[in-house]
Amino acid sequence: MTEQIANIERAATSAIQRAGTTQALEDVRIQYLGRKAELPNLLRGVAQLPPEERAATGKAANQARQRLEAALEHKAGELAATELDARLAEDRVDITLPGDPLPSIGRLHLMTRTRREIEDVFVGLGFNVAEGPEIESVYYNFDALNHASTHPSRLETDTFYIEPDPAHPAPPDIFDPSTRLLRVHTSPAQIHAMESQPPPIYIIVPGRVYRPDSDATHTPQFHQIEGLAVDEDVTLADLKGTLLTFARAIFGPEREVRLRPHFFPFTEPSVEVDVSCFNCTQGITADGQRCPLCKGTAWIEILGSGMVDPNVFDHVADHGYDPEKVQGFAFGMGIERIAMLKHGVPDLRLFYDNDIRFLEQF
Ligand code: DAH
Repeated sequence: MTEQIANIERAATSAIQRAGTTQALEDVRIQYLGRKAELPNLLRGVAQLPPEERAATGKAANQARQRLEAALEHKAGELAATELDARLAEDRVDITLPGDPLPSIGRLHLMTRTRREIEDVFVGLGFNVAEGPEIESVYYNFDALNHASTHPSRLETDTFYIEPDPAHPAPPDIFDPSTRLLRVHTSPAQIHAMESQPPPIYIIVPGRVYRPDSDATHTPQFHQIEGLAVDEDVTLADLKGTLLTFARAIFGPEREVRLRPHFFPFTEPSVEVDVSCFNCTQGITADGQRCPLCKGTAWIEILGSGMVDPNVFDHVADHGYDPEKVQGFAFGMGIERIAMLKHGVPDLRLFYDNDIRFLEQF
């Protein structure tokens, strides 16, 4: 009997040694010390043995069980330690790896998309993208752009002036060329661009502009894209061709443009540019209604434009823009307006509410 116990112990000990994982070790424990295993069975049967064998067999079996339990515990400790090491090695953070890109749960805002679309069209035509400051002076925002001193947009009701000294509030001097303000249009960037590079110049300038207005079609801050092309032989026909290409790229290949006489201080002649309505035929929609987009006129105003006024060149004549030698065209459009027209957005404020139900539609 003790022989049998020794055999079991030997077999169990070697199985414990061979167990490579915590799970395998548990299987060994069940095999040798579980309820149905040989050794515990043997122990349970000691009472049935002849009295002279009981003590020795019981003792041997008990000691074997205790040794096996100790061996199991020891091995379990070893395995737990190596398994932890392995897990740690596997989970090690390699801080030299590049970060995982975020899952693409977002998208570009419709304003960003529209701005980039417009930029792409003009870059394709050979224009460069430039920038200008949002805080301007009366000189750049009005004077250099040939605004008469009586021009109404100089008034505080139409322009945000910057308090020179918040500690001593005083009305701004709106006729002082150095008085600071938030630009009301991107047109002052024309002057900065011409001051910084000689002709020829072909640029567009996207950016934020500010006006004290707030309703369904006006927000105090909005976006424009300015365009400026100056060379020795740029004509109104070039302007029309450029804007026709733009209109077709943005609103569809069937579009036409028309120029209507208008007034802007910094262009002469000045025009407003309309694009043929892409929502109807001659003002009537497919279901026979008066088109709500063009209000039945078949044309939609998209921007202001014209030939650069020689008086504007006078301000940058020292930078190579001799009004007798160069001529050019300029234009300015509201990015929100283009996006609203193109995508049928009914209220300008939707662009800035950050309502995901709106943003996700584009
Ligand atoms: N600056 C004008 C505005 O804010 C838009 C504009 C009109 C820009 C004609 C131009 C232009 O460059 O030539 O409404």
